[in-house]
Amino acid sequence: MRLNLVHEGADELNYEIRQIAELGRRLETAGVKMTWENIGDPVAKGEEVPQWIRRVVAAAAADSSSYAYAPTKGLLSARQFLAERVDGSSLDPEDIIFFNGLGDAVSKIYTQLERNARVLGPSPAYPTHSSAEAAHAGSHHLTYQLDPHNGWLPDVADIRSKVKYNPNIAAILIINPDNPTGMVYPKAILEEMVAIADEYDLFLVADEIYAELSYGSEAFVPLGDVVGRVPALVLRGLSKEVPWPGARCGWIEVYNRDEDVNFERYVSSIVDAKMLEVGSTTLPQTVLPAILSDQRYARWLESRRQRYAERAKLATQELGKIVGANVVCPAGAFYLTVTFQPGSLNYGQGLALEPEPVREEVERAAVKLGPTELDKRFCYYLMGATGLCVVPLSGFNTELPGFRMTLLEPDEKKFQRTLNILSKAIPAYLRSAAK
Ligand SMILES: Cc1ncc(COP(=O)(O)O)c(C=O)c1O
Repeated sequence: MRLNLVHEGADELNYEIRQIAELGRRLETAGVKMTWENIGDPVAKGEEVPQWIRRVVAAAAADSSSYAYAPTKGLLSARQFLAERVDGSSLDPEDIIFFNGLGDAVSKIYTQLERNARVLGPSPAYPTHSSAEAAHAGSHHLTYQLDPHNGWLPDVADIRSKVKYNPNIAAILIINPDNPTGMVYPKAILEEMVAIADEYDLFLVADEIYAELSYGSEAFVPLGDVVGRVPALVLRGLSKEVPWPGARCGWIEVYNRDEDVNFERYVSSIVDAKMLEVGSTTLPQTVLPAILSDQRYARWLESRRQRYAERAKLATQELGKIVGANVVCPAGAFYLTVTFQPGSLNYGQGLALEPEPVREEVERAAVKLGPTELDKRFCYYLMGATGLCVVPLSGFNTELPGFRMTLLEPDEKKFQRTLNILSKAIPAYLRSAAK
């Protein structure tokens, strides 16, 4: 090519949640019976969407209007419904913008942001945010640490000092409830983050896609309840809670747009970018008010929360017994993260792999890994030896070695089987080679 075609942020685009499945599929072809624990899709994992929800969707699909373009920001009926649902806030339907899934919203948030304006995000972090932020800046994502030895809570003093000494930080990202850790931010920490944003003239981004899936002792507090006059983008969607990830339907709630002209202009540019695409998926917006306001919906969510809470407790009990592994009981979302003690992984470790094509696939993939990817190596051997596909924690923008599994398996016996596999495979792997 006459010119370089590759954007300088291109190397920052990583999504290990799906990348790891490429090796998994090759192993499947080589005869391994796979258990997919990599992706946060309740439907793919076998959860049945209730009949009544499917009937509401079917009725809307029978109506021609569902096949039309939606307005740029989304159907007014859906935006009105969402605006009214936010308790005691001044949210207006005009402050709500629909997207083709939150992935689309996340992409617009970072693409429209001036290149030098950085968003400080959690580590570990859901990679769509960390990758998109890094790609927009053409540089590594800036992070604050979530501490696995303190319930995955962030160190607010660390956030404050990073903000204070880096004038390029324009915003702080909060993922609450968090993916991959399952941590739910206590109100006091949210208030401190709001105070930091206020003091240093920042805006906040709160990804609350798991808002309805919090089940710990700490109540989930929406950012909108504590945000005061700080400009903020709150992200919600249908993928996880209905669950309906295939709908590609998420939205941004804009708080305090009028408080800052610069923020207001930035938000307008997000809407303009959406306008170039015309709009977002119409059918899910059409049925959103009917589904979310139905009394059966509240009961449905409650039953799912209970199941995840039980799974979280059981998995924490069982995996917590493994010497060398650290587990924090999740309080929200549907993931569980296991971390390994620093230094406990090395290149000599492995698990017995057979038949020969399986060993070849795993070793061929493992040999390409760099020094910060020892947890990937563990995941590759685990997959080859047991068929269990989990996501290495290094895929979540962190140096902490570990992995993420889901709490989604609807079949209790299969879930227990997964825990049994991990309870045997982790110690076997850690013991397998002397340093
Ligand atoms: C924290 C978080 N935000 C956003 C998304 C993407 O959601 P959507 O399906 O609406 O694109 C996910 C998906 O796993 C997620 O975990």
